[in-house]
Amino acid sequence: MKVTVNTLHKKARDGEKVVMLTCYDASFAQVMDEAGVDVLLVGDSLGTVLQGADSTLPVTLDEMVYHTRLVARGAKNALVLADLPFGSYQESREQAFASAARLMQAGAHMVKLEGGAYMAETTRFLVERGIPVCAHIGLTPQSVNTMGGYRVQGKTDEDAARLLDDAKALADAGASLVLMECMPAELARRVTETVSVPTIGIGAGLDVSGQVLVVYDMLGIYPGKKAKFVKDFMAGADSIAGAIKAYADAVRAKTFPAAEHIFS
Ligand code: KIV
Ligand code: NA
Repeated sequence: MKVTVNTLHKKARDGEKVVMLTCYDASFAQVMDEAGVDVLLVGDSLGTVLQGADSTLPVTLDEMVYHTRLVARGAKNALVLADLPFGSYQESREQAFASAARLMQAGAHMVKLEGGAYMAETTRFLVERGIPVCAHIGLTPQSVNTMGGYRVQGKTDEDAARLLDDAKALADAGASLVLMECMPAELARRVTETVSVPTIGIGAGLDVSGQVLVVYDMLGIYPGKKAKFVKDFMAGADSIAGAIKAYADAVRAKTFPAAEHIFS
């Protein structure tokens, strides 16, 4: 059955975890779809994992449109979520709508944008005009230069309170999902208890409505040292499809993330 916004909300209400993975092409989309992954995220992480850039900032809207089209061709049931890349939505809500419309026309069912409460107005503008929005808070890689590096967010009481307010503002503005990246598990739990929409975590612990990982990471393809929140599901699997199924099973069984993958 086709996964829709309603499916995701129902899963969260029923306590069934939402399974999300990044996806950049039709072949992987087909494998993930068949493995029962609920949401395929065409992430701007493609700038690093596909293009070899050292951040997501160089990724263009045209490139996101292209990869969204490829993923949409391979996905039968999964919901296709596409990232708005850096520079394509921050300037104005009109700019955000024009960019998001291109992703929707390429086959996305929802778009994701990074930022806190200041993106609430844009979120509302898109949602009122037919474009579901996934908010992305915590570690927001497009802001790496103002954050001064990739690090866990929300560690002080002040930052934690701000992130909680951000999540509330974005959910109130109509966001369909709130994605949290690299945040203490306790804070992610508080956000999940507070907002009425499903939450998705990456490095945000177990007490969220669903999980996401970069597919290359969970297949063991990463340069250098493994990030704390990543698990290599290729270890112990005999195929890529098997590894993706193992990830989906582990998310649904709440055995991933385990203690060793969680920031406290
Ligand atoms: O681009 C991406 O892969 C993402 C995830 C890390 C959430 O935004
Ligand atoms: Na992204």
